Amino acid sequence: MEKDHRLKRMETYVKKQFEQDTTGHGFDHMKRVALWSRKLADEEEVDPVLAEAAGWLHDIGDEKLFINPDKAVEERNRLLLEWNFTPFQKNEIEKAIETVSFRKGKKPSSYLGAVVQDADRLDAIGAIGIARAFTYGGAKGQRIDNEEGDASSSIQHFHDKLLKLSGMMNTESGRQEAERRHRFMEEYLLEFKREKQLD
Ligand code: ADP
Ligand code: NI
Repeated sequence: MEKDHRLKRMETYVKKQFEQDTTGHGFDHMKRVALWSRKLADEEEVDPVLAEAAGWLHDIGDEKLFINPDKAVEERNRLLLEWNFTPFQKNEIEKAIETVSFRKGKKPSSYLGAVVQDADRLDAIGAIGIARAFTYGGAKGQRIDNEEGDASSSIQHFHDKLLKLSGMMNTESGRQEAERRHRFMEEYLLEFKREKQLD
C-alpha cells in the first residue's frame, strides 16, 4: 500500500524539527512512536493514519524541547490543515497529544490518546529506554548513579518512573510488550548492582 502522502510530508517536517536533538528525543524516537502507535491502533480500532500522525507529532511543543512551545504548537496545527487533515482530525490529534506526557499525569480521553501514550511509554523502557535514560541524563549533566548529596541520577530515574510504566499501559498488546521490556530492565538493574559491589 502506498504511504499516505500527508504522513510523508509530516515525516519530513518532523525530521527537520528533531534531527539535532541529543537528549533522547531525536527523529528516531518520533519514528518509533509513530510506528508503534500505528501498530497498536489496529487492535484498538483507531484510524491508523491518525495514530501514526499523532505519534510523529507527539513531542512538538514539549516544554523541555522547545524554546517557544506555543509557537511550535501553533505551527503544528496550521500545518495539519495545510496537509489536508480536517479540522475534526486536527482536534483529535491535538487532544491525543495533550495527554501523552507522564509528567503531566493525564489519562487519555480517547482511544487515539491511549495508543500514542502507550507507544511513547514503550520507548522509555527496555533496551531502548535504558539508552534514552542515560542519554537524557548525560545531556542534562546528571550522574549515572547517585552519589552522596545527589538529588537525582539516571539510575534513580528507573525507580522514580521507568519501573512504573509497565503497570500503567492502556492497551493489551502494549502491556505485553511492556512486560517483556520491564523484565529486561530489572535484569539490567540487578547486573548493574552486582558489578558495583566490590566485595
Ligand atoms: P514525559 O514527557 O512523558 O514526562 P519525559 O519527557 O519526562 O516524558 O521523558 C522522556 C524520556 O526522557 C524518557 O526516555 C526518560 O527516561 C527520559 N528522562 C526524563 N527525565 C529523566 C531523568 N531525570 N533521568 C534520566 N532520564 C530521564
Ligand atoms: Ni516522546
